[in-house]
Amino acid sequence: MNNYKLVILSSGYGSNLQSIIDKLHLQDGIEVCVIVSDKASQSITRGLLANIPCLFLPKRKSQSREEYDKLLKALIIPFAPDLIVLAGFMRIFSPVFIRAFEGKIINIHPSLLPKYKGLNTHQRVIDAKDKMHGTTIHYVDETLDGGEIIAQKRIDVLPFDTAETLEQTIKSIEHTFYPEIIRKLCLKATLL
Ligand code: GAR
Repeated sequence: MNNYKLVILSSGYGSNLQSIIDKLHLQDGIEVCVIVSDKASQSITRGLLANIPCLFLPKRKSQSREEYDKLLKALIIPFAPDLIVLAGFMRIFSPVFIRAFEGKIINIHPSLLPKYKGLNTHQRVIDAKDKMHGTTIHYVDETLDGGEIIAQKRIDVLPFDTAETLEQTIKSIEHTFYPEIIRKLCLKATLL
């Protein structure tokens, strides 16, 4: 049977990417076939160290979002991904990209969506004195952190929590949660 192929878009520190590599790559019929980054990032280094092909597609100032997304789409199509996984890839996609991979793009976002789309989610939770926080895995549409929710994990916000402690706690949850959900999506697709 063919491997279930993941394309990972990641352009930051890459800790979620690393957990996907460690927990899923070349295990149970799952393969990370390429990592794409729009920045010179730790994500690329992590991919190279794991012997995974990496592509670097920086966005030029002169390029529109559509122009960039057309190039990105053309780069990804030859890999025929079963799933495109965003792991700290901070871009909003235009319809040209979303339509090409309809229902196959997922993202993880550090808030209980639809609350706190965008940046600085942990500080916003502290500022609002919320009692609960969490992380969300969702399908991706052409809006900021938008699309159908697949799964969420909640945590209590404790009196001594800061944006930094929340980030640590949420990231450590994401490192188990994201690979677990990707594995479930793979199982569902291969059983269909
Ligand atoms: C993760 O916490 C992820 O939820 C968040 O970026 C971080 C990436 O960390 N994603 C978003 O904010 C998407 N809007 P990492 O580079 O260490 O995996």
